[in-house]
Amino acid sequence: MCGIAGCTGGLSAGAVVIASLKRLEYRGYDSAGITLGGSPLRTVKISGKVCSLERSLGPDDCLATWAIAHTRWATCGAPTAENAHPHLSGDGRISVVHNGIIENFAELREELTGSGHVFLSETDSEVIPHLIEEYYDGDPLRSTASALRRLSGAFGVAAVFERHPETIICASVGSPVVIGLDDGRTFVASDVQALAPYTRRVIRLKDGEIARLTPCGAEIFSLADLRPIRPEISDLPVETSVADKGGFEHFMLKEIMEQPECCSNALKGRLDFDRGTAVLPGLGLSPRELARVSRILIAGCGSSIHAGLAGAYCIEGLAGIPVSVEQASEFRYRNPVLEPETLVIALSQSGETADTVAAVREARSKGAWVTAVCNVEASTIAREADSVIPLRAGPELSVAATKTFTSQLVVLYLLALLAGRNRRLPFETASRLLREAEELPCLIREVLDEAPAIKALAEKYVRAEDMFYIGRGNLYPVALEGALKLKEISYVHAEGYHAAELKHGPIALLDELVPVVALVNPEDEGEKVCGNIRECLARKAPVIAVVAGKDMPDALPVRDIIRVPACSRFLLPAVAAVALQLFAYFFARSRGCSVDQPRNLAKSVTVE
Ligand code: M6R
Repeated sequence: MCGIAGCTGGLSAGAVVIASLKRLEYRGYDSAGITLGGSPLRTVKISGKVCSLERSLGPDDCLATWAIAHTRWATCGAPTAENAHPHLSGDGRISVVHNGIIENFAELREELTGSGHVFLSETDSEVIPHLIEEYYDGDPLRSTASALRRLSGAFGVAAVFERHPETIICASVGSPVVIGLDDGRTFVASDVQALAPYTRRVIRLKDGEIARLTPCGAEIFSLADLRPIRPEISDLPVETSVADKGGFEHFMLKEIMEQPECCSNALKGRLDFDRGTAVLPGLGLSPRELARVSRILIAGCGSSIHAGLAGAYCIEGLAGIPVSVEQASEFRYRNPVLEPETLVIALSQSGETADTVAAVREARSKGAWVTAVCNVEASTIAREADSVIPLRAGPELSVAATKTFTSQLVVLYLLALLAGRNRRLPFETASRLLREAEELPCLIREVLDEAPAIKALAEKYVRAEDMFYIGRGNLYPVALEGALKLKEISYVHAEGYHAAELKHGPIALLDELVPVVALVNPEDEGEKVCGNIRECLARKAPVIAVVAGKDMPDALPVRDIIRVPACSRFLLPAVAAVALQLFAYFFARSRGCSVDQPRNLAKSVTVE
């Protein structure tokens, strides 16, 4: 959730790490800091965004030849300059940036305080430079390794030493660290996004590895015993360098607009018209193994859960396999029952969400086959699962999930088709579903064409402070997702409810100041949702109806209507979600909110 950047070599390491930090800022942006190499080390920290940090630096700072930096999402201690990284040893000669959580920091801090160390922040991270100082024997690699072996938890770390110019020590335990190689320069970061402008040659540190970086390259060792390890150098895929807004005001709008293309990518090569089925080699199960699956369990968090709930309708509807959707955060704590025939799907855009990582480990330890459905193929979840179905949505930088949500829906639809064909789904039905899937990019384009009308509606309701989103069937998860989008980027209280549930309590909150967004599929419980809308209107709540097709199923006095194209009920969630993404985007933008980097949030949530 935080971002690490470092560089050694060249004449502008300071400028390089600031630029890298900006590319990581989508991960966390409460506060930031940098240590510039030299004697003494110079450390600058601020509360706020990387641009404020940049403004605090002088021209000479950018010319430093080695530097490490950090952008933070506060977990342990408020987002103040004191709690920002880097943190220093007592003598100020060792500087450390840290991602992750140190679970035993309280006891280490007590121990270190007992031996005279003075702490300046409330963070868990600050124990690291003090511990390294305690173990320092003239060898930065050995002393860092000795200190890190004392930590429990998950961490990605980079450290510099005043007495060892142009050397960076970095290590990874349960938190990603990637090294970039270039002629005369070596980089470190917590995410390849940071390295894309500088190099394509990278080494991803494996769990339990530590590295010594100099301008000449990287040496990798086992953290346990400092045994040298031969590095695996890989090439960055080209798309990781795509991190600009492409002329859009925000990444979120760009990513919403990319959805027709993302859906095409998610479908590409996965539709087999001859056999009337979907092709998902990433699932890693033979037809016979798939036929043995008696239950599917989908685990994820946030938007991924909502995609999972919509996916469950498809899988149960087309394949007749019972599906349960689990909050990954609860999964491992309730001792879930997994039979050998249970297929576990870990849904995660980032592939780094700590709760979903833990669910993957729990499921695998119980012998289940775990398939990751993930946008980042080199992520922890993708690496640890038994198999991976990539989303192929391209980097998503706005904190609000948009294109990855619809791509998840597409992949789950394909999985439902495949599993259905593997059972009793007739060829003709499957062929129609395949043709309908092919239409999805066009259907989404039609919704995007409605952007001006949706913007006008968002502006009309921009003063609302509370909103409800309601839907039935597979539009209920879309209501949940629409409400999540609105609240996370506009800070307006929004709740998603099953339309029928409203009258069991929440309806007490409705009045003329509380708009209700109602999702209506005239072909699927349309009359029933209209009944629920009538209940809202009777309480004077303004209603915005998102309707599939041209006509409302019933003559209702609702004037604010967002029309989305009529389509197969299994694809409607993806189509309707796009309308709600646009509504949330324009609503938040009109309120002057920081759309791409909403307060208190981070793109990937790597703590429990
Ligand atoms: O990367 P993941 O899909 O595992 O992330 C899960 C949630 O943190 C994420 O969907 C979050 O809810 C988004 N901010 C929603 O827009």
